[in-house]
Amino acid sequence: MCGIIAAIGTEPVLASVLRGLQNLEYRGYDSAGVAVGLDDSLAVCKRAGQISALVDDVRAELPDGTRAIGHTRWSTHGPPTDANAHPHTDCTGRVAVVHNGIIENHEVLKADLRDHGHRFTSDTDTEVVAHLVEQCLEAGDETGVAVRQAIDRLAGSYAVAILVDGDDRVFAARNGSPLALGVGADTFYLGSDAPAFVEYTDEVVYLEDGDLVTLSPTSFEVSNDGQLVTRPAETIDWTPGDARKGAYDHFMLKEIHEQPSAIEQTIRGRLTDDGVRLEELEALDFGAVEAVHFVACGTSYHASLYCEQLLRERGVDAQTFLASEYSGSPPPVDERVLTVAVTQSGETADTLEAVRIARAEGATTLAVTNVVGSTVTRACDHHLLIRAGPEIGVAATKTFTSQITALVLLAERIVQDRGTDIQGYPLDELAALSDNAARTLESPQAEAVARRYADADSFFFIGRGPCYPVALEGALKLKEISYEHAEGFPAGELKHGPLALVTPQTPVIALFSGENDRNTLSNVREVQARGAPVIGVVPEGSDLVYEDFDDVLTVPDTAPELTAVLGNLQLQLFAYHVADALDRAIDKPRNLAKSVTVE
Ligand code: AGP
Ligand code: GLU
Repeated sequence: MCGIIAAIGTEPVLASVLRGLQNLEYRGYDSAGVAVGLDDSLAVCKRAGQISALVDDVRAELPDGTRAIGHTRWSTHGPPTDANAHPHTDCTGRVAVVHNGIIENHEVLKADLRDHGHRFTSDTDTEVVAHLVEQCLEAGDETGVAVRQAIDRLAGSYAVAILVDGDDRVFAARNGSPLALGVGADTFYLGSDAPAFVEYTDEVVYLEDGDLVTLSPTSFEVSNDGQLVTRPAETIDWTPGDARKGAYDHFMLKEIHEQPSAIEQTIRGRLTDDGVRLEELEALDFGAVEAVHFVACGTSYHASLYCEQLLRERGVDAQTFLASEYSGSPPPVDERVLTVAVTQSGETADTLEAVRIARAEGATTLAVTNVVGSTVTRACDHHLLIRAGPEIGVAATKTFTSQITALVLLAERIVQDRGTDIQGYPLDELAALSDNAARTLESPQAEAVARRYADADSFFFIGRGPCYPVALEGALKLKEISYEHAEGFPAGELKHGPLALVTPQTPVIALFSGENDRNTLSNVREVQARGAPVIGVVPEGSDLVYEDFDDVLTVPDTAPELTAVLGNLQLQLFAYHVADALDRAIDKPRNLAKSVTVE
């Protein structure tokens, strides 16, 4: 999920690997490390915390060599500690591995390796890779064969780079996590993205899923499914500065476009043929949960509202509390109440205070967060990671979508254990969400519509059912980054007050899910009668596309709950392009911070 850099050549490469780590820094990380291949050993230096400190240590401690691998970690398995930082080594220290992604079958592999006498020194899923290679080497396999055999046993998403002592090559493989190869004059590079090495070469080979790469000091070869393959080299024309945001002008836009892969990571290994499996929560007695209380702020509050609806529709008592209001009048709780703190950063003071109160009063507590080792994971009895990867833009985008995805899995897991036969969430459509998100993001509609309305006085967002929390989120996103006035309402509430504000200068963005749409359409008629322009966010193929809206943003046709989530992607793009048209500081809006650590 985070970053890999590797280099091999005829000259020492440590400086370029350290530089590569610094180039990856913008992606966010919690730990980092380096391994260098020497004549008769591998030297490893790794630690939790800042790259700058690691770089000082590496310069002081590690000898230089002609092959090296480096890593920035965004923990998914095990807290950010020195021991869990990559590279990971086998029992003998002969094999060093860096990995991005998640090895889904790590538990089974680990158990098997332990039975064969392997000792593990970290909590990560990654460490199994080093031991698998070791096992094959012990069995007498040639190094390249050992690496291939080890990779063949992995399930899940990975980009890996591997050094083996006594072999002057670097091995790498990818499946579901990006990996690019840079071809320099006398050095080859590997990076989880080209910005890692773009200052050394502009010639890039993008690897594909299933590719296994063997790099020697003077050549490389790529094989896939045992066959040698040719991957074309491309010349990129980015400067190192441009490269950090890739093709995007802002981190927010980059993160919006990362949502298809973020959704995949959130779901990975958790949606099985037998239902939802949440490895981290095996110690939680779901059968004993009688009520669910969410505590959250801002975007995380909106994701919680969405999940509250899902639970209630399925007969589970659920309520959402604004964390900043919780301490004033906390609800009664006992151990049968599951209080869920939903917080991307894991550091929001209001949310921490609320969940601490709930825990002190006897509730069972669960953190749903993006940051391993964050304060909320220590403040709660259990935690579930949303695995969206680091988010740099202050406005939450991919973390909202991953929160919703993780909360859907949680809701489904809760319902599963209650043994009810009520209709479940459309899990097949959840599995298709990543592809549908990618299709939604291809649409140029939001940019054109945003530019047309960027000068409006005020924006209203309306929706009902699952579109209601999305309407709130759409308005929050727009106000945060464009500084324009925006409000979200349940569609049916307009006539109870806000309608007084509707004029031809207040565009109304109306969200439709494919369910109860006629009621929302009546609310649209009410605002149209007051002259407001209406932008309909509607499922493709529905009759609504032909309704009398001023503009339409379409989303792929799917289950109503997920239509709402896809509608939110259009609203993110809409907010982004309004803010861009107004030349706002999109990634760092005025007066706001990424994590709000004061109450
Ligand atoms: C979202 O775009 C905002 N930056 C803000 O509302 C945020 O969601 C809120 O501060 C909660 O943050 P958390 O998820 O890190 O707890
Ligand atoms: N799953 C691995 C870990 O937790 C890799 C995480 C990453 O991609 O940085 O260590």
